[in-house]
Amino acid sequence: MRADTRLFAWVLAAAAALPALAAAPESKLPGPAEIPAGYRHWTHVKSGLIPPGHAAYASFGGLHHIYANDRALAGYRDGRYADGAVLVYDLFDTRDTADGSLDQGPRRHIDVMVRDARRYAATGGWGYAEFAAGDTRDRLSDRQRNGCAACHRSREAQGQVFSEWKD
Ligand code: HEC
Repeated sequence: MRADTRLFAWVLAAAAALPALAAAPESKLPGPAEIPAGYRHWTHVKSGLIPPGHAAYASFGGLHHIYANDRALAGYRDGRYADGAVLVYDLFDTRDTADGSLDQGPRRHIDVMVRDARRYAATGGWGYAEFAAGDTRDRLSDRQRNGCAACHRSREAQGQVFSEWKD
């Protein structure tokens, strides 16, 4: 094989490998890289159920629990969230039980918001991430991350946070 033919073969092989690389979300917008350690022991803010048939079912359907670390908890009072505030949306499928009640099923995914006004300035001062069940890598693309921020920014007066603290 001549050298230029070999090079051509190599370029073809490299091009064939490209779709696999492109499949990984290529995010230029920064977001939290990890599932916050110990969040299950933080303060439980509320739970909610998005049933099948709801417009948001595909993305957020199931039973969710929202947790706040101490810094985020302070923000629920006045809508001002200090850097270091972290909120977690922990989403589960539901399961019908034999006696007709509804139980928590397997986890679907974990959504995370971390407040850092400077680092996450491009997404309103909150960094957004999503971890599929059993996966420790954030799976959001830039487009999806912008989608999180766009919807949450509609709650500007509440610090871009939807859930509310109720005693
Ligand atoms: C179309 C609007 C919308 C989009 C898009 C959206 N969210 Fe939310 N998010 C909500 C609503 C509404 C709640 C409150 C649910 C409740 O009160 O039970 C919420 C709650 C949360 C919470 C708990 C804190 C809070 O605001 O109450 C986190 C964390 C969160 N979302 C992360 C994300 C991430 C990450 C994405 C992108 C993958 C995302 N969200 C996309 C509407 C949205």
